Amino acid sequence: MLDNRPPLPPEIARRRTFAIISHPDAGKTTLTEKFLLFGGAIQMAGQVRAKGEARRTRSDFMQMEKDRGISVSASAMSFDFRQYRFNLVDTPGHSDFSEDTYRTLTAVDAAIMVIDGAKGVESQTRKLFEVCRLRDLPILTFCNKMDRESRDTFEIIDEIQQNLAIDVAPASWPIGTGREFIGCYDILHDRLELMDRADRNRVAETIAINGLADPKLAEHIPADLLAKLLEDLEMVSALLPAFNRQSFLEGHMTPIWFGSAINSFGVKELMDGMGEYGPEPQVQKAKERGVAPEEESVTGFVFKVQANMDPKHRDRVAFVRLSSGHFERGMKLVHVRSKKPMAVSNPVMFLAADRELAEEAWAGDIIGIPNHGQLRIGDALTEGEALHFTGIPSFAPELLQNIRAGDPMKAKHLEKALMQFAEEGAAKVFKPMIGSGYIVGVVGALQFDVLASRIELEYSLPVRFEGSNFTSARWVTGPRAAVDAFINVNKGHIAQDSDGDTVFLTRLQWDIDRVGRDHPEVRLTATKEMM
Ligand code: G4P
Repeated sequence: MLDNRPPLPPEIARRRTFAIISHPDAGKTTLTEKFLLFGGAIQMAGQVRAKGEARRTRSDFMQMEKDRGISVSASAMSFDFRQYRFNLVDTPGHSDFSEDTYRTLTAVDAAIMVIDGAKGVESQTRKLFEVCRLRDLPILTFCNKMDRESRDTFEIIDEIQQNLAIDVAPASWPIGTGREFIGCYDILHDRLELMDRADRNRVAETIAINGLADPKLAEHIPADLLAKLLEDLEMVSALLPAFNRQSFLEGHMTPIWFGSAINSFGVKELMDGMGEYGPEPQVQKAKERGVAPEEESVTGFVFKVQANMDPKHRDRVAFVRLSSGHFERGMKLVHVRSKKPMAVSNPVMFLAADRELAEEAWAGDIIGIPNHGQLRIGDALTEGEALHFTGIPSFAPELLQNIRAGDPMKAKHLEKALMQFAEEGAAKVFKPMIGSGYIVGVVGALQFDVLASRIELEYSLPVRFEGSNFTSARWVTGPRAAVDAFINVNKGHIAQDSDGDTVFLTRLQWDIDRVGRDHPEVRLTATKEMM
């Protein structure tokens, strides 16, 4: 029904909202920086890291983040490139934060997958790719570090096809490798792009040519490299599929560009690719119906909450992906969960690392809404309609520990801190039915360290984690009477999560199997929709 929609209003149609996924060290930060540079959001390379430092001193609780070189805080950056408005949503890079990353990917319409030309598809790339696949996100691939010795181009493409089960269509083709790498042939536009090794921030020289028979090629490419290029391209057209936008938009095909982010090479072509072929803001699924971006009424959903971005103010910022309409500052929206109106008077947009007041925003944009905790992950904001956006899951934790305040008199403080982190989605917090205290659940072990240092820094409350008898948790649903009967005989295993939902704490898969046998009407699930 929604397929034959009229064209989107131009302001919406020009938006491209995407994330960059990669294995650590493949070049995501460098590529992001070049995007911002060419998008005019920063003046010179090097500012992202510098700003990162400044941001850290401003908001960053943890020495740890610096020490371990991981980026815990994520944000969204907006900038213009040609006629397009790019919204680049940053994904946390460390594997321990996969749940956060997953939710971030619910807010984008496309992803750029960066791989290192010498390493190919690495573990983290594969994991993130699988998440994109679950949502059929279109993916553009950037094969980075071509200025260094890299693997054979056909081999890289083959590895992606085999490993990720996706068709790969070369958008460009590298000429020479390693020290001999001189640039790329732009297959989609029949152009020659030459890299300038002398100036890392200079954009490659583009040479218009008239197809592969053009004698101009020989003026710019040494004979041996040209012969290899022509041979390669012949094989490309015989062996690899040609780029098909529909197939790309459906998530079956990825176009691949070769380049060197640090040398600014191939980056503009990739950005052009995102603009030209990338998806416009897409229909967002809600329980009630699909919400189309061109609908006049403003709607959006919270996909991330970040607390204490400024420690001086105990503020939180809820990141909202606008699903439809044209938002203007000061608008009154309805917070669907509480049914309360909410005047959005100081929304922020993130231009590079600086926040700025957003005067207006359109479907596809990400705005940050400062609040005191009313806004939670999965919440919908609308102009009145009761919508519940779907697909923002909460995952059962894989590690559970008891938490204790160093000072027993501060139990109330601890509770407050834990509730905040639960709302942020940084941890699951369970209150057992029997006994006192809380059990904290996370997906990766590093999150316990993160939590402990944040609670100490933000609440001046030293805490310690202790082993618990349980290893995982499952949400409990089913007919009331069956659930009550189940709870009654399993009190030692029952807890409530921070939303008041019942969970069954397990020790072994055996526990879960046993429930299946003894209580066939009770359902135990490892995910829960947040809405
Ligand atoms: P990440 O965010 O994906 O973890 O990667 P990041 O951009 O930080 O890049 C990782 C390393 O790879 C950095 O080197 C960066 O300079 C380098 N790099 C990025 N793009 C290219 C490229 O096109 N060619 C080459 N040869 N190297 C590239 P570093 O030594 O870890 O950091 P730095 O001291 O350069 O900042």
